[in-house]
Amino acid sequence: MKIAIIYDSITGNTKKIAEAIKAECEDKDILFGDMQTNINEAELIFIGTWTDKGNCSEKVKEKLASIQNKKIAIFGTAGFGGSEEYFHTLYQRVKEFVPKTNEILGYFYCQGKMPLSVKDRYVKMITEHPEDKRLQVSLENFEEALSHPDQKDMENAKSFAREIIKRCM
Ligand SMILES: Cc1cc2nc3c(=O)[nH]c(=O)nc-3n(C[C@H](O)[C@H](O)[C@H](O)COP(=O)(O)O)c2cc1C
Repeated sequence: MKIAIIYDSITGNTKKIAEAIKAECEDKDILFGDMQTNINEAELIFIGTWTDKGNCSEKVKEKLASIQNKKIAIFGTAGFGGSEEYFHTLYQRVKEFVPKTNEILGYFYCQGKMPLSVKDRYVKMITEHPEDKRLQVSLENFEEALSHPDQKDMENAKSFAREIIKRCM
């Protein structure tokens, strides 16, 4: 079975997860790369995205819309984390871009660090609106995200890949 692992990653977080999945598929016939990768021959496609405004990236939306009759596993990273519920919501949104001829086998999300410019923006906003508690929560979340994806996230991504592949055998 040919497996494709494709990802869209701006700052490297999603790429890191893609590489963990690749490591899990070491002994398999794989195609690996960005959204330009030719995946025609793959039966199973792991497709990874960063989170942009609560959804997958535009490139991933476009790619998903072009895929037919494949088994698909979705993975991604998001700046906000700490809640499976949030990750599930993201998955539900991404799922809408998958044509119905495909079979979705599962999804995996973890948190991914955000650029320092985001922190600078929060700090500035807190200075202007010290009474807004949500800004403080956002800043705490920013700090929490800084260490992700971590070793545990990579291990979780590998077990996710293992489970998906087992289901295809
Ligand atoms: C323009 C922009 C929009 C973002 N929107 C969200 C969002 O709506 N929700 C979220 O959880 N993270 C959001 N993030 C954070 C990224 O999805 C997160 O840092 C991700 O791990 C980046 O992945 P990458 O390193 O593979 O590019 C956003 C980041 C940027 C730059």
